[in-house]
Amino acid sequence: MVRLWQCLIAGAAAVSANGTFRLQDVPKTICASTGSDKVGYFDFDNNSKHLFFWLAESRDNPSTDPVILWMNGGPGASSVAFGLFGELGPCLIDGPNATKPNPFAWNNHANLIFVDQPVNVGFSYSDDPVKNLEDAMTDMYAFLTSFMENFPKYAHQDFYIMELQTKKDVCNNVLNYCRDKSVSFIQAEHLSPYDFRQTCEDGGLCYQSVEWTEEYLNSSSTREQLGISDDIKFNIVDAELLQNFLDSGDMDADSIAWAEELLNQDYRILVYVGNKDWYCNAAGEKNLVHNLRWKHQSAFQARDSQPFTMDMQEIGIFKQVEGLSFVEIYDAGHMVPADKPQEALFLVESWIQDRLRST
Ligand SMILES: *[C@@H]1O[C@H](CO)[C@@H](O)[C@H](O)[C@H]1NC(C)=O
Ligand SMILES: *[C@@H]1O[C@H](CO)[C@@H](O)[C@H](O)[C@H]1NC(C)=O
Ligand SMILES: *[C@@H]1O[C@H](CO)[C@@H](O)[C@H](O)[C@H]1NC(C)=O
Ligand SMILES: *[C@@H]1O[C@H](CO)[C@@H](O)[C@H](O)[C@H]1NC(C)=O
Repeated sequence: MVRLWQCLIAGAAAVSANGTFRLQDVPKTICASTGSDKVGYFDFDNNSKHLFFWLAESRDNPSTDPVILWMNGGPGASSVAFGLFGELGPCLIDGPNATKPNPFAWNNHANLIFVDQPVNVGFSYSDDPVKNLEDAMTDMYAFLTSFMENFPKYAHQDFYIMELQTKKDVCNNVLNYCRDKSVSFIQAEHLSPYDFRQTCEDGGLCYQSVEWTEEYLNSSSTREQLGISDDIKFNIVDAELLQNFLDSGDMDADSIAWAEELLNQDYRILVYVGNKDWYCNAAGEKNLVHNLRWKHQSAFQARDSQPFTMDMQEIGIFKQVEGLSFVEIYDAGHMVPADKPQEALFLVESWIQDRLRST
């Protein structure tokens, strides 16, 4: 098993039942604080689809630390661009042609997998665009099963899915695979980059770092170092996918029933929100969590929120009953890890270690 892994990291292609992995090391010139990060593609569906992903191995103990799969929503936003370089990766964007190490990276004590999904988002590509959630789900299922088969080093730890907004069916299906494993879900409400762009044009909220990330990743120098050919388009947000989801009606897919089912099956769910978020406001989120219909709903409703403290400082409030945790972080907007990096890392690690409980 270990040999297979070493074979992969040496750059050899590994064939799984449903696809092939092409991987290379991330150069220090792209991310100075890289440990043994890998980037590359999962080629599948008879080599017609190519999912780009970045594996940020734990800086602590990769073979025992948990594995977190990060998928940006949108739908159609690049996980590498937004999640990794914008919020919680080993490096953050620092100008149009620079990155800086992130001391509060979520891979301090976890293995992180960022997938540009579905195909045609970010550096992922295909001649066969994804039309709906069903397609997206099938592809992510193929990716995950093949990943665990090819990287057995990561197949035995606790596994977390960082799941954003409308992708309930991806999770449903991934669940079939993970049924007997320890899987938990972290849900954050994010500003969709689509909306972000609209507001930006209106002269409102505008994250310059997103423009930098786009420029940085799309540059020929970055492409060359990451082994991405110039003819692969970089879609930081895939507008065609968004349109396809609107056309198929899947934009309205409801993730509430999905969350309720997970909770009833004793999966753990964390929902967090920044209290300065005007777009998905904390009161609305609190209401949503309050109204989830699941087996411990009445206990959850009866419980009062508790102060959430880090180093004796109150950094937010939380409420947890059995598998459901809700956390509101003070003075943070939509992108909590970007606004409050240390607090966000503390939050996710506390939750993973099940230390959120009030005493
Ligand atoms: C796979 O792709 C090859 C080359 O494009 C094609 O000839 C073959 O028919 C495909 N096989 C299947 C099962 O689609
Ligand atoms: C970015 O920086 C690298 C390394 O210093 C350099 O090789 C490359 O030409 C720069 N790219 C741009 C677009 O300035
Ligand atoms: C291959 O894909 C099929 C259909 O998507 C799936 O049923 C099967 O479990 C996959 N096998 C592996 C080893 O990933
Ligand atoms: C990416 O770079 C290419 C080549 O320089 C350019 O034509 C394209 O417009 C760029 N795309 C984005 C999204 O900036």
